[in-house]
Amino acid sequence: MNYAEEIKKLKKEKNAVILAHYYQVGEIQDIADYVGDSLGLSQQAAKTEADIIVFAGVHFMAETAKILNPTKKVLLPDLEAGCSLADSCPPADFSAFKKLHPDHIVISYINCSAEIKALSDIICTSSNAKKMVESVPPEQNIIFAPDKNLGRFLIKETGRDMLLWDGACIVHESFSIDKILELKKQFPEAHIIAHPESQEHILKVSEYVGSTTGLLNYVKNSKETTFIVATESGILHQMQKENPTKHLIAAPMDEDATCACNECPYMKMNTMEKLYLCLLNETPSIEIGEELRKKALVSIERMLSLS
Ligand code: 13P
Ligand code: SF4
Repeated sequence: MNYAEEIKKLKKEKNAVILAHYYQVGEIQDIADYVGDSLGLSQQAAKTEADIIVFAGVHFMAETAKILNPTKKVLLPDLEAGCSLADSCPPADFSAFKKLHPDHIVISYINCSAEIKALSDIICTSSNAKKMVESVPPEQNIIFAPDKNLGRFLIKETGRDMLLWDGACIVHESFSIDKILELKKQFPEAHIIAHPESQEHILKVSEYVGSTTGLLNYVKNSKETTFIVATESGILHQMQKENPTKHLIAAPMDEDATCACNECPYMKMNTMEKLYLCLLNETPSIEIGEELRKKALVSIERMLSLS
């Protein structure tokens, strides 16, 4: 079956829109109506007039789309497509932690569950996190959750002393600094660019740190021709498309990394076949209780209004 053709037909017939993250496989990015980072995707989800949103990404992204636009049917090709970072912050534990620090407000990275969003005051993504932290008065104490690497990076960037939740992403925690530095010796002119979910020692040696959109813009606007890219390797599809003559090298992983390579196992659960089937059968869909949705919406809307 030509999935691309069938998906296009169904999309038109059902007035559906496909939103895809840069970490999706290339063929899914190519068929999407919009490809973007977490902020761009939530902005698109909030304003779409389509009847169905097919979210080619992971669960927290589709859930955010449903929170923002509850009258739409939101489909996720594989309901098991979760996120290790979101899983590293169980709501009951986080709620207990929050109670220990009643004078703190909570800024949470969008990579978290609706329950964590409901326990948060402001949501941020990697492209607006600095702005969100700086929007809080300097005397106000802050808890930052769930990503400790992004949190540590923000403390350095803003000079704000935040209390960090101890969460991380399995992909971004697995890059090998030794192998990256070996590559840098081999290609001394290369710029190392990294996503802020990466560990501190990777960020320290990077010429640029930014969200997936930030990384794409950096490569596009740079006069350099070689880049060592420390984020999920799906981004190389878009990056190479935009910069066909540039040399892009996926940052290597530690030998003992728990995941085999720099691919997110959750993002890669989505396939063209699953995308086709979910659009055909209009399942699996994201459902969320209205009380929780309304609570979670407050912190997301705060981010969108400040973005
Ligand atoms: P951004 O695309 O917003 O930079 O987020 C990366 C990510 O971890 C998605 O899971
Ligand atoms: Fe989550 Fe990391 Fe995968 Fe992004 S790359 S979805 S943070 S596990």
